[in-house]
Amino acid sequence: MSQSKTVSPAAGLKGEITVPGDKSISHRSIMLGSLAEGITVVHGFLHGEDNHATLNAFRSMGVEIENLPGDVLKIHGRGLDGLQEPADVIDCGNSGTTIRLMTGLLAGQQFFSVLTGDRYLRKRPMRRVVEPLSRMGARIWGRQGGQLAPLALQGGELAGLDYDSPIASAQVKSALLLAGLYAEGPTTVKEPHLSRDHSERMLSYFGAKVEPFAGGVRIFPRPALKGREVHVPGDISSAAFFMVAALVTPGSDVLIRNVGINPTRSGIIDILQAMGGDLRVLDPREHSGEPVADIHVRSSDLQGIDIGGELVPRAIDEFPVVSVAACFAQGQTVIRDARELRVKETDRIAAMTSELTRLGASVEPREDGMVIIGGQPLQGGRVTSHGDHRIAMSMAVAALVAAGPVTIDDVQCTATSFPNFWELLESIRH
Ligand code: S3P
Repeated sequence: MSQSKTVSPAAGLKGEITVPGDKSISHRSIMLGSLAEGITVVHGFLHGEDNHATLNAFRSMGVEIENLPGDVLKIHGRGLDGLQEPADVIDCGNSGTTIRLMTGLLAGQQFFSVLTGDRYLRKRPMRRVVEPLSRMGARIWGRQGGQLAPLALQGGELAGLDYDSPIASAQVKSALLLAGLYAEGPTTVKEPHLSRDHSERMLSYFGAKVEPFAGGVRIFPRPALKGREVHVPGDISSAAFFMVAALVTPGSDVLIRNVGINPTRSGIIDILQAMGGDLRVLDPREHSGEPVADIHVRSSDLQGIDIGGELVPRAIDEFPVVSVAACFAQGQTVIRDARELRVKETDRIAAMTSELTRLGASVEPREDGMVIIGGQPLQGGRVTSHGDHRIAMSMAVAALVAAGPVTIDDVQCTATSFPNFWELLESIRH
């Protein structure tokens, strides 16, 4: 059943919050914890639907994973060759990270498996992983010649690969690195701009031989991975909704504690500061090989800017909420080089254009981005999430500063990445 939420304008957001754990790091902690020898304890695991898809997948391959109080997981690692053939199809739900990373991992297992997902995931491009994995010798079948899930895999021997990826994608890079754990020789992935490097960091943290270099990364096969304690930082992509909300809602002052600020993810901080946002990074520190800080945000007058190039992969999941910030900035904001937004959970260029326009914003879609003329007041109304968690939460942020209440349809998708989003928003609004 489709749920709706009505968000009224806020007089200001005030207080301290902690956002749930990082989605990308939570996925990887299950994967590497399962492939390691011994116990891995994960603190601050994100109990979102996407991560539960990964959790269920590894349980279905014989991995014992205990769910302990306080967002802690205890994973009984089975070693590189310890996974068992799943008895049924693996359902990745809405999660692109689950299906693409697991395609790489399963390509190297000595068994048969099938990966599928919900109606959104089954429309997303899979050739970007199937094609390079096939070059390594993987046997993978899918609809439309391997472009669409369900994907069927007969795992087996793999050769190393030197791959020049045409896109900056951490999912492609990570799929190849995971396959590379099982290959005959080293595997190298080059990319046009550096995408998020959580896989590289966590692989090294678990003891794999991984060599990052300018423009790429190389992995050596058959490491002895050792179970570890992983402290998952708060997800900067979840914090981003509160950063923009506090900047655009007059009278706001919000401290977001324990946010991951990995430089391959922190593009949103650079973008909002370049727009003139009063956003400070406090007490930077490191947890389990990942940089973390607290972020203090106060309402600010924003200006439109141009965004493109290397900044795009560093903020790839934040463009829905950046487009909301742009509506409240003086002048024009241009987003370029962001064609990838068309193949996310939904076409985010089309979805944000249509929903912001319904509230009276001036947004022009482009093939690889959008142009937004800010400074015009938004009105209340009714919008939809298009089944995409980040569109739902971005529209909730827009609603805080619209002239009247905004009803957002189809909001249950926020459970994908941020199950307590609505409660957290309520807890700091005035
Ligand atoms: C992710 C990588 C990104 C991002 C997604 C999570 C990951 O996708 O959009 O939400 O965990 O590796 P791409 O690698 O396809 O850009």
